Amino acid sequence: MITIISATNREGSVTAKVASVYSNFLSELNVDNQVMDLAELPKDFLFSNFYGASTEPFQEMMKIYFDQAHKFIVVSPEYHGSYPGVFKALIDCVGGEMIKAKKVALVGVASGRIGNLRGMDHLTALFHHLRAEVYSSKPKLSQIHKILDADGKLDDSETEAIIKSQLEGFISF
Ligand SMILES: Cc1cc2nc3c(=O)[nH]c(=O)nc-3n(C[C@H](O)[C@H](O)[C@H](O)COP(=O)(O)O)c2cc1C
Repeated sequence: MITIISATNREGSVTAKVASVYSNFLSELNVDNQVMDLAELPKDFLFSNFYGASTEPFQEMMKIYFDQAHKFIVVSPEYHGSYPGVFKALIDCVGGEMIKAKKVALVGVASGRIGNLRGMDHLTALFHHLRAEVYSSKPKLSQIHKILDADGKLDDSETEAIIKSQLEGFISF
């Protein structure tokens, strides 16, 4: 099972739409996948599941999305030159055990021109610290509004080819 994480809690995010594009491509390849949208996290998760505290709904979510997954695809928007704080907060609650030795692919999403390049580096450092393996191809989807239409459909053949090539490589990684 591959868990695709939409790494923002912003309701109606473009990142969630990109996560859905990834999910559809994986399904076309008959690869089991599921999307975890951080907009669905319990609103108090950071305080009620941190440093010894835990709640059943959160633990159940983590079992489904982290424990049962052998690979992750993290689709991350660029917020202030990096990945969103809510994603780091989530990782601080989940801990490293459910991530260690698993494989991770990264995707950057931004309205600006850099496509979350620095966020990809920051996420790579985070996952390597947790002893996960990060796949080398990390598409940086810059000026996302130009390649994704209002319905969330990818409207750019070059980007589609980049994503499909990343997925094919990641499946055998
Ligand atoms: C808090 C916040 C910070 C942002 N910072 C940046 C940034 O540093 N660079 C950039 O290109 N876009 C930035 N954006 C715009 C996002 O790239 C844009 O909203 C894009 O659609 C991806 O974010 P989304 O998934 O929330 O829609 C920011 C957006 C938010 C909400």
